[in-house]
This record gives sequence, C-alpha cells and structure tokens, in this order.
Amino acid sequence: MKIRDFRSDTVTQPTDAMRQAMACAVVGDDTLGEDPTVTELEQYCALLFKKEAALLVASGTMANQVAVQTFCQRGQEAIVGAESHIYNLEVGALAALAQVQAVPIYSHNGYFDPVTIRKAIREPGIQKTRTGLLCLENTYNLNGGIPLPPAYFKELKEVTEEHGVPIYLDGARIFNAAAALNATPAQLTADVDAAMFCLTKGLAAPFGAVLVGSKTFIEQARWMRQRLGGGFRQIGHMAAAGLVGLKEMRGRISEDHENARRLANGIAAIDARLVNIGYVQTNIVNVDFSHSDKPLAYIVSELARRGVKIKPLGAAHCRMVTHYGLSAEDIDFAIEAMREVL
Ligand SMILES: Cc1ncc(COP(=O)(O)O)c(C=O)c1O
Repeated sequence: MKIRDFRSDTVTQPTDAMRQAMACAVVGDDTLGEDPTVTELEQYCALLFKKEAALLVASGTMANQVAVQTFCQRGQEAIVGAESHIYNLEVGALAALAQVQAVPIYSHNGYFDPVTIRKAIREPGIQKTRTGLLCLENTYNLNGGIPLPPAYFKELKEVTEEHGVPIYLDGARIFNAAAALNATPAQLTADVDAAMFCLTKGLAAPFGAVLVGSKTFIEQARWMRQRLGGGFRQIGHMAAAGLVGLKEMRGRISEDHENARRLANGIAAIDARLVNIGYVQTNIVNVDFSHSDKPLAYIVSELARRGVKIKPLGAAHCRMVTHYGLSAEDIDFAIEAMREVL
C-alpha cells in the first residue's frame, strides 16, 4: 500500500541527484577544516544569506543550542516564543545544556508586540540577570507555519538594538517563508544577528542545518559545536546532498504551498470548521477535529489504515505538512480518505 505521510516535511527521501552527489563528494576531515565540500556549502550559504560566514551542524536542534550558548552566558535570559520550537520541543535544552533562563512570551497570530518584547528585556540592577538574546522563528511552526515579513524583524531590531540584545532567528523553514512572501533569504535575515535553517525540511536533504552570521559569531559557534560533540570528520557526503537541496529544491517549495492550500480547501469542503483556511500560508495545515463525534485516536488510526499518516497535536488537533514526497494526487487521496473516516 502506498503511504502518504503528512506528519512532517522531514519524512522525505533524498533525490537521485542527492544520492549521486553523496556518492561522488570529495571529502576530508572537517574538524581540521579540510573538507572541501563542507567549505563549499558554508561559503554558498554565507553568500545566499549575505552574512560573513556559515557553519554546518547536525540538526536544527543543535544549531539552536550552539547559537544560544554562543550568545548567552550561564544564568542570562533568552526571550523566546511561548509557542516556539526552541522552548517546547528541544527537551529543555535551554535549561539543561545552555543553563539559560527562558522568558516565554505569547504572540498575536505569530507576531510579538514590540511593547511586550521591550517589557521582557531586563533593566540593569544588582539583583537582576541580563537579557542575552531574543529568539524568533520563521516560519512559525506551532503557529500554523505563518511566514513573518522583513519589516517585522526591522521593527523588533529597533527595540532590541537600543538595549544591546542580539536577535537569533530559528529559520528551520526560512525557504518556505521566502517563497510565501516572495522575499530572498537575505532580506528575511538582514535584521537578525544570526540565523539557522534546516537542510532536511523543504529541501529534502537527509542531514543537517546551517548557522549564518558574522565571522566572529561563526568562529565561536564552531568552538561550541565541538564542545557539544558536533565536530565532524568526512561529512562532505552530507554537505553534498545539502548543496543539491539548496540549488535544486528551493525553487519548487511554492508547489508545497499550493498543495497545502489544495488540502485545506478540500478538508474545509468536508466541514468548514475543520480548517482555518486564511491561516494556511505555507506548507502546514492544522486540522481541528474538536467538533467531530469521532475521537482523534480513531481518526488517526483509520487514516493510517488507508495509508495516510497525520501527526496529532493535543487532544483534538492534528498537523498535516506538505512536501516534496506528496503530489496533488496524494492530496486528493488524503482528502477523500478523511471524508470517508469522518
Ligand atoms: C522551527 C523548528 N526549529 C527547529 C527544529 C529542529 O530541527 P531538527 O529536527 O533538525 O533538530 C524544527 C524541527 O521540526 C523546527 O520545526
């Protein structure tokens, strides 16, 4: 039976071109700075984002941890989104590894009010710790994958700059934001001090995330990566797949967005209460089953029996993500399966 997997955009298989590039990559010991394919990837990313330097790390989670530890001292505070990945889905690494105090703030439909950010920044004082970092996320995953435009980052930078607080962007899905907003990755990161993006999501590569920032930041981040056990040897095989992703897969991400809209419209045609169509701007569709007389566990297992995998989020919601491994026909199949199950 063919499986249509909507749980995440991380479930994709590497393309033939990636497999070919991995097999043929020229590699070396990257901890010694001697892997030419990694160097090529890092230089490519720095240019793409118009930042001074870049660093390949194992995963988005590792990138976030390396960045926080590079920007913050132990005991400092990081302002984070209450709905952010870094705060909710990284096994408490902010506290456990970075020993940074998280200050979670809520967004309005994915946007933080600059006044709230301003209030969250600590005033100096003998009994106070310091605010070391503002962490943002684009697209904002748990907020339905909303893409946040360059002007928003500019506005927040005006607030943080005055207080000497750097901004770090978790751009795991930055290319989705870029496609949705018709902006370049560089425009989306112009007003942040450093950013990361994943090679393993919309780009469909099997490994890695990349940090971009100033030369000084990346030098320190490289050292932090080593501390966390993320110093690689012949990792150019993986960098080669990432380069294919960046060069060949970025251009097709808008297809995933079209498919997400197709999916949302199809599900809404079953029952308009299931999806907030206006919220679907990238490749994430949140489905609300709270009005259904069927329990979520039943819906998930009946869909799985028909070869459609979805990810439950909470008691009555699920997330469906479109990606390279799903065609328009797969979307139509999933809509029909959902109609049957409901
Ligand atoms: C917004 C965001 N940040 C970070 C990550 C972590 O990436 P990884 O799974 O590569 O550790 C994810 C993964 O889904 C994510 O959605």
